Amino acid sequence: MAISTRVAIIGAGPAGALLSHILDRAGIDSVVVERSSRDHVLGRIRAGVLEWGTVELLREVGLGERMDAEGHVHAVNNIVWSGRGVLTLDIEQHAGSRFMSYGQTNLQEDLYEAADRRGAAIHFEAADVEVHDVTSDRPWLTFTSDGEQERIEADYIVGCDGFHGASRQAIPDTVLRTYLKEYPFGWLGILSETPPLEHIVYAHHERGFALASQRNPRLSRYYVQCPLTDSIDDWSDDRFWSELTTRLGPVVGPSIVTGPSIEKSIAPLRSFVAEPMRHGNLFLAGDAAHIVPPTGAKGLNLAVSDVFYLSRGFQAHYLDGDDHYLDGYSDMALRRVWGSVRFSWWLTTLLHRFPDQTDFDLRAQEAELDYLASSTHAQAAMAEQYAGLPFES
Ligand code: APR
Ligand code: PHB
Repeated sequence: MAISTRVAIIGAGPAGALLSHILDRAGIDSVVVERSSRDHVLGRIRAGVLEWGTVELLREVGLGERMDAEGHVHAVNNIVWSGRGVLTLDIEQHAGSRFMSYGQTNLQEDLYEAADRRGAAIHFEAADVEVHDVTSDRPWLTFTSDGEQERIEADYIVGCDGFHGASRQAIPDTVLRTYLKEYPFGWLGILSETPPLEHIVYAHHERGFALASQRNPRLSRYYVQCPLTDSIDDWSDDRFWSELTTRLGPVVGPSIVTGPSIEKSIAPLRSFVAEPMRHGNLFLAGDAAHIVPPTGAKGLNLAVSDVFYLSRGFQAHYLDGDDHYLDGYSDMALRRVWGSVRFSWWLTTLLHRFPDQTDFDLRAQEAELDYLASSTHAQAAMAEQYAGLPFES
């Protein structure tokens, strides 16, 4: 027997789980199929910064209690470079908005606890998901669970299945346009049960980029740029702490409290956009449609903004018979996506050392950082993009 629902969602990461949560609150039935186990999804260490629009949306949909209790609200972040002291970028002053440190892992836990409370239909370990008839009025998908093939028929299918998912493949090459930029370095990230710095600090250094962030008052998140050819075996904790403190410079570096890493991983950096984010009755949301380098902390926030736009469209469709937002979803989401993709590319290009970089390129980066430090206009431009522009009405 086929499962019948309004919206079939592929992927139970932040995008899929949040979409299902919001639709349920509106009384719109959905079913989620997730390839991995619940524990595997919860074990991922990912993003850690929420734009204020994300914070407000999560509060509005009943997901703010733990976030507000455990999240750290920031008004500023810091940038250091070439030993030139510390630039404090006052996000609140320039953009009239703050941001929050709250781990994606925590948000995923909150989403799954909310799903449990409402008895949500999330099929974990759903294998071989295939999408069918997306241009028909009743698209459907199949998957295998415990060796049995299952079928879900829906009004709409939403691909929230990330960069390596199946849904984007259902858009014909004659329709799909993709844009890709791969960066010639990666980020080595660690978690340590040590007290973090008060503020998030970005570092430009001739040895490479570094970032000091946090998950809670007892859990720090740090990154250093590294060659793509490196593996975590090349990076002892001692080497990591030495590089991090050197790159953070003489003012910030000595403040780092070191300790054993409890998680260590290397991730490549890429910018990717797939257009359109709708084909027939298939929609794409989150990493299924776009990837940003983590420098601007936009990946999770773009997944949330896609879900905000798409859930608003489904609510208008089912509750008011109005398809204005559904029909306009792809264009509206892509305006925000490209704004964040460009900002993330700009900040990545400004703060990282590129292997083929010349001395001229390095001095030009330093001059742009000097200009940023000297210009409230430049700081305001960065601040409003970092904080996240308002959602379109
Ligand atoms: N079938 C079912 N599920 C799938 C399939 C598939 N073929 N392919 C992938 N998935 C699942 C993955 O296991 C994952 O749990 O889809 C989910 C996609 O989740 P994310 O990759 O986290 O993407 P998204 O929900 O869009 O959230 C974006 O997560 O990856 C970070 O940096 C990213 O912070 C950003 C956020
Ligand atoms: C993180 O805490 O993981 C983090 C913070 C800021 C960024 C990127 C990642 O720009």
